[in-house]
Amino acid sequence: MPLVPTAELVRAAHADGRGIGAFNVITLEHAEAVVAGAEAAGLPAVCQISENAVRFHGGSLAPIARATAAVAESAAVPVGLHLDHVTDEDLLRRAADCGFGSVMYDASALPHARNVAATRAAADWAHDRGLWLEAELGEIGGKDGVHAPGARTDPAEAAAFVAATGIDALAVAVGSSHAMTTRTARLDHDLIGRLRGAATVPLVLHGSTGVPDDELRRAVAGGMVKINIGTALNIAFTGAVRDFLAADSVTVDPRRYLSSARTRMASAVESALRVLG
Ligand code: G3H
Ligand code: ZN
Repeated sequence: MPLVPTAELVRAAHADGRGIGAFNVITLEHAEAVVAGAEAAGLPAVCQISENAVRFHGGSLAPIARATAAVAESAAVPVGLHLDHVTDEDLLRRAADCGFGSVMYDASALPHARNVAATRAAADWAHDRGLWLEAELGEIGGKDGVHAPGARTDPAEAAAFVAATGIDALAVAVGSSHAMTTRTARLDHDLIGRLRGAATVPLVLHGSTGVPDDELRRAVAGGMVKINIGTALNIAFTGAVRDFLAADSVTVDPRRYLSSARTRMASAVESALRVLG
């Protein structure tokens, strides 16, 4: 199964009223786990590499991107490759050479007018190269940006932002928050319905790790399409490594505990996809 453009996966999920799971990849084992989980669920998925993950790899995009693309190319189900939360223009431009089908350009920390102008330019650049572009409307700074629990996207502003920028998908703030390690977020389902009516493009939920399964099901039924999940994989990965090493002080071969971590991440991916699909 070839690597599939994210646009196709999102379009199909949108048309069928399904969610498409987009999972953050940091290491090769993450990519292998996303594909294994998607194959176990028999559902498509997106592997996404964030600007923070690229920073972890010393600023090099190509090694982790091409490795992830190669894993996706050998998958038995359709898998997309997405570059996530890009604030650096130079990184945005490198996406075109590394197999990505889509990018989230994140200028949400900028004042509104500059966010609109920068996002319009990013969308034009992406479309000239056949890339699908996701962006975010935001006014609140800090680590969580608009994905802080109290932040909300205004439907009229969302509609105006989509029209002014020409983006393909909009990340919205509806009650989730990045990097939660408990699944206690409550989403504003009334707002999701209003955003679905106002925005003419598919909606993206960030910080989905903290959202319980029943809330995710309601969110997808209400119109959220691309569901971004990152921390859940790291909870699985780190938990498995911790369990393994706590029970075994002799092993030095990392393949032993990385196998365990990869298997547990794959289960997390499979469960999430079954909820969304
Ligand atoms: O863009 C990536 C996601 O928003 C991941 O959020 O780590 O809280 O699941 P999460
Ligand atoms: Zn995010």
